Amino acid sequence: MKNKNKITLLIFALLMFLPSLASANEFVDDGVIDFGTSADFPPYEYYEGEDIVGIDPDIIKEIGDYLDIEVKIHDMDFNNILASIQSNKLDAGAAGFTVTEERKKSVNFTDTFAKTSQVVLVKKDSQISTIDELRKNKKIGTQLGSIGHTLATDDFGEENVSAFVKVPDAVLALKTGKIDAVIVDKEIAENYKASDDKLGILDKTYVEEEYAIAVNKNNEALLEKLNQAIGELKKDGTIDKIMAKYEGSSELSEGKGLIGRFKATIIDNGGYKYLLDGLKTTIIVTSFALIISFLLGLIIAITRAASEESTNILIKILDKVFALFVTIIRGTPSTIQLLIMFNVILVNLDNLLLVAVLSFALNSSAYMAEIFRGGINAVDKGEKEAARSLGLTYYQTMRKVIMPQAIKNSLPALANEIITLFKETSISGFIGLADLTRGASIVISQTFDAGTAYFSAAIIYLVIVMVMEKIFKKIEKGLQYA
Ligand code: ARG
Repeated sequence: MKNKNKITLLIFALLMFLPSLASANEFVDDGVIDFGTSADFPPYEYYEGEDIVGIDPDIIKEIGDYLDIEVKIHDMDFNNILASIQSNKLDAGAAGFTVTEERKKSVNFTDTFAKTSQVVLVKKDSQISTIDELRKNKKIGTQLGSIGHTLATDDFGEENVSAFVKVPDAVLALKTGKIDAVIVDKEIAENYKASDDKLGILDKTYVEEEYAIAVNKNNEALLEKLNQAIGELKKDGTIDKIMAKYEGSSELSEGKGLIGRFKATIIDNGGYKYLLDGLKTTIIVTSFALIISFLLGLIIAITRAASEESTNILIKILDKVFALFVTIIRGTPSTIQLLIMFNVILVNLDNLLLVAVLSFALNSSAYMAEIFRGGINAVDKGEKEAARSLGLTYYQTMRKVIMPQAIKNSLPALANEIITLFKETSISGFIGLADLTRGASIVISQTFDAGTAYFSAAIIYLVIVMVMEKIFKKIEKGLQYA
């Protein structure tokens, strides 16, 4: 009896102890809660220097402290966050998410922590003063995948609604008169209004809503933990404090005229930092992708050329596989390839730079392979026969006679492909990698000056391409006499 008691006690003690042992990892397996956001949404989430700041990031940090667990924020397009949660790439999303029944089918929502509304942003001098007037075939802008987008298409007809990937792009379209109104969340509209006295907000709100954090549907444990944390942060006033901290928008320096605006946006407001950081990323992605695609392209081209005269079954099979690879890569958009890499094939790889490098390398290698193959085919058949009859092996013939000429033949097309690759990396922003183009978007999300930011980025691309062209010309010239 005594012994039995002891054992029961021991088991009890163990049972009590076990959960605390596993505590940090019981709701996220890698010990980190990964949150997705879309940092184009001040004051809820935006960039300040390298950091993503705002109400959501602050709340996330507090949640991490409260639960004593590491939290990470990943910036991406708003429209991709829910999909990334569903594919388990993210544990949760904090991006000013409005709770809706529709979304509840694919994610769970925590308890809400902010009440807000969708409002209508217009130009002050516009004819529109009521929501009803939006029905008269007005053009309405919204953010792709946002609640404003869904509601507006229902209410005003799909043909009247344009969806922009980033909020600042919608506001720019409004400013330039391409659209008549933007439906967006209240605090964000107020932020834009404060930064531009030509903008106004309709008095009547469009719809009321509440924000919460979206959580992976398969992770009830995480939902519970987050709710526990949010409950506590609400109770002890932390959330109120965070909201108050971000009231009133940030001071921006403003400039008139082309030079004035350039100075304000790029220099005074620090835009150059994002452009330069972005450029660095663009160059890194291009360079590594280029090295890999060059080698892979060569391998593919040589294998396929060899298969034309070989009976080796392995080479024949490789030839078929490579041919299929080239067809698939050339037949699908690079953006889709990048998104498939990110969301499906490399879903467990956290390094965005690596995902981009691999994706662009594979893409470009297909084109390079075809370029090299053309180069090989253009070499006079007689040279090969001559080399072989002189006693050179197949390998020697390729290496010493065919390939040097093939590469020389391919050079103009190759130069073209390298330039294409460089510019193609501008879609990196789709997976949240801060390349040069994304850098420009970040500048816009802070300064609302899309013209200056995009032109600056365009000029940087242009200058680099011109330099590349010069270099390629030199190389070509040099080889002509080789
Ligand atoms: N509240 C809106 C929604 O859930 C818009 C959120 C957009 N968030 C952002 N970070 N851009 O659809």
